[in-house]
Amino acid sequence: MSAPSLEQIISQATADFASCADAPSLENAKAKYLGKTGAVTELLKGMAQLSPDEKKTRGADINRAKDAIEATLKARRESLANDALNAKLASESIDVTLPGRGRGVGGIHPVIQTWQRCEEIFGSIGFDVADGPEIEADWYNFTALNNPPNHPARSMQDTFYVDMNGTDGLPLLLRTHTSPMQVRYAKMHANELTTKGKAIKVIAPGRTYRVDSDATHSPMFHQIEGLWIDENISFADLKGVYTDFLRRFFETVALQVRFRPSYFPFTEPSAEIDMKFDSGPLKGKWLEISGSGQVHPTVVKNFGLDPERFIGFAFGSGLERLTMLKHGIGDLRLFFEGDLRFLKQFA
Ligand code: DAH
Repeated sequence: MSAPSLEQIISQATADFASCADAPSLENAKAKYLGKTGAVTELLKGMAQLSPDEKKTRGADINRAKDAIEATLKARRESLANDALNAKLASESIDVTLPGRGRGVGGIHPVIQTWQRCEEIFGSIGFDVADGPEIEADWYNFTALNNPPNHPARSMQDTFYVDMNGTDGLPLLLRTHTSPMQVRYAKMHANELTTKGKAIKVIAPGRTYRVDSDATHSPMFHQIEGLWIDENISFADLKGVYTDFLRRFFETVALQVRFRPSYFPFTEPSAEIDMKFDSGPLKGKWLEISGSGQVHPTVVKNFGLDPERFIGFAFGSGLERLTMLKHGIGDLRLFFEGDLRFLKQFA
């Protein structure tokens, strides 16, 4: 049998390469032609016996054949790589016709809605709005409010302490109420009151903390503090302002307000404010809504004011409590769980 012609080798290689279904078998087929013992290599070896002239033409022919085979090989490699890529793309395809998840419209948290409404109502009665630190010095949170170290009333409010001392040399703490804002704000504005007769009239809403956790208590909660100090601010003013606030907040005049004697170190006399709806699901029940009182002379002195001359009232109410009564919510923990089914009802 005569040796195959160059044309035959080329067409054989082309057919072989075309029948390879993947890259490894193609590389095996390549060896049959271009490898150490491949057909083309054998032809090159066979040139040893030829004359120099024959070598020239035969060599050129074999090289052309070799180039042709290499070109076919390259084309087949590319085509196989292309097929592999297409198969991969097809298997990982994304169905862009699926509807997207969308982005919900956010809403204001119900407690923050109460906070904002309080600012609106008290703002309309002429109260300034103040903000202050949640990490507070012992002096502002307790001592300045007539609640010195070892005073038994301190046990009414256990809190979290920070591993760092305030300028009073006592550990800083997370404020247990917004009442320290009375002292901070009044100290800053005492001079304006004394020299220009500008009343101290402020609310201070914000976050507060206590070691407490059940259906009606949370370690973090919100309060709103109120303070009105001038030369002649009486309990009657407290009664008028707070009743007006409640009627507007609950959007009804059908409610009664009563002041029940109580105790707070920073007020004298002190009162718990209770309210009763005349209609609706909570009709007829007295509900505790706020602490309040006439600011204690010692506290007025700590404001940097003369208690013989300046007098007024303060109150501190829970924003969660106001929100729960407004919407008939029974468990305070719902406010902090972030369950959208609950929160969406207020959006
Ligand atoms: N700070 C008190 C508390 O958290 C509430 C309070 C009572 C605030 C009487 C006042 C007040 O301003 O006059 O329990």
